[in-house]
Amino acid sequence: MSKEKIAIAYSGGLDTSVMIKWLKDKYEGADIVAVTGNLGQTKEIENLESKAIKTGASSFHFVDLRKQFVEEYIWRALKAGALYEDVYPLATALGRPLLAKALVDVAVEEGCTMLAHGCTGKGNDQVRFEVTFASLAPHLKVLAPLREWEFTSREAEIAYALEHNIPVSATKKSPYSIDENIWGISIECGVLEDPMVPPPDDAFQITVSPEKAPDQPTVVDIEFIEGVPVSLDGKEMTGLDLIVRLNELGAKNGVGRLDMVENRVVGIKSREIYEAPAATILHFAHRELERLTLEKSVFQYKKNISQDYANIIYNGTWFSPMRSALDAFVNETQKPVTGLVRIKLYKGSMSLLGRNSPNSLYNEELATYTEADTFNHKAAAGFIHIYGLGVKTFNQVNKNNG
Ligand code: ARG
Repeated sequence: MSKEKIAIAYSGGLDTSVMIKWLKDKYEGADIVAVTGNLGQTKEIENLESKAIKTGASSFHFVDLRKQFVEEYIWRALKAGALYEDVYPLATALGRPLLAKALVDVAVEEGCTMLAHGCTGKGNDQVRFEVTFASLAPHLKVLAPLREWEFTSREAEIAYALEHNIPVSATKKSPYSIDENIWGISIECGVLEDPMVPPPDDAFQITVSPEKAPDQPTVVDIEFIEGVPVSLDGKEMTGLDLIVRLNELGAKNGVGRLDMVENRVVGIKSREIYEAPAATILHFAHRELERLTLEKSVFQYKKNISQDYANIIYNGTWFSPMRSALDAFVNETQKPVTGLVRIKLYKGSMSLLGRNSPNSLYNEELATYTEADTFNHKAAAGFIHIYGLGVKTFNQVNKNNG
């Protein structure tokens, strides 16, 4: 039997470390190609290469996906207004198709025969990874060791790791399961599993609690061109820098904490908390600019698209004709979404100070109640007469029928 070559989505954490050894045993001496994608996470990214090799990988790839993540994934989701079940900005969910694609690219380049990921059998991430694998590389066999292996606890995995000299940083064991990228941090497990328990302070990774935020507010000016943020406080920045900076400003003011019970793809409800300062601020600012610049029917119709788009991201069908078609619609709507939004961040809250745009549809001469008013008041009477004719007629005919 020829030797298998397996590309694994590697994070350097306990699960994917144990996975390397476990796969080598199961597929007799298979070559393991460990791949880590950089989506702007800050934890567990040091010494990944030496750790992977020590654990038994034949090679290691660290792929910088940050620019692509911002420009091809995050900005699309922002323009679409994609918030899952009206709350979650989809940081983890958006990262998965890109990580899966990066894994496939390396696997193809290295001539791998199999792909492996470290997701569990009851989460959303296995769905996102595997739907993407099937879409991009149906010829590669997919392995999900966590769905099959014998370990039933973290302790059992640690024991296996120690027995096989697998380097693990199990000392600073967190009671939470945490996934991090620049668009946000997802935190679950531990005491958070009881939806009545408020998140303890140690669950939050970057934001300060609103009570401990500064007494002085922070005001930010965000400028958008066609729905994409391009500058902060008058300074042009790359998307990546802009998100990093807004995360800092939001976190410092306690902005961007979310707590939700959500509906998973696999039919269960789970409680997760999120920290997503930049995403929270940008979605808010973007929507306020749309209120000013989108024509009424487009603005109202787009809400449905936002929900559909969020579901596509959450459910793992990023590489789909539906997503491309919705992108085309969304991009068309974004043409006038250019302008400035001024926001105040203060003790966990966000408020709008002002907005303007060269494409503003707000017409002061029509809106004003002063002498400057140019609205044709008399025309309103005829408009209402005809507009209400249908319901008026119905109610007259049916007045005796309750
Ligand atoms: N519930 C989020 C999602 O499905 C995050 C999943 C990963 N969460 C975690 N804490 N590791 O997108």
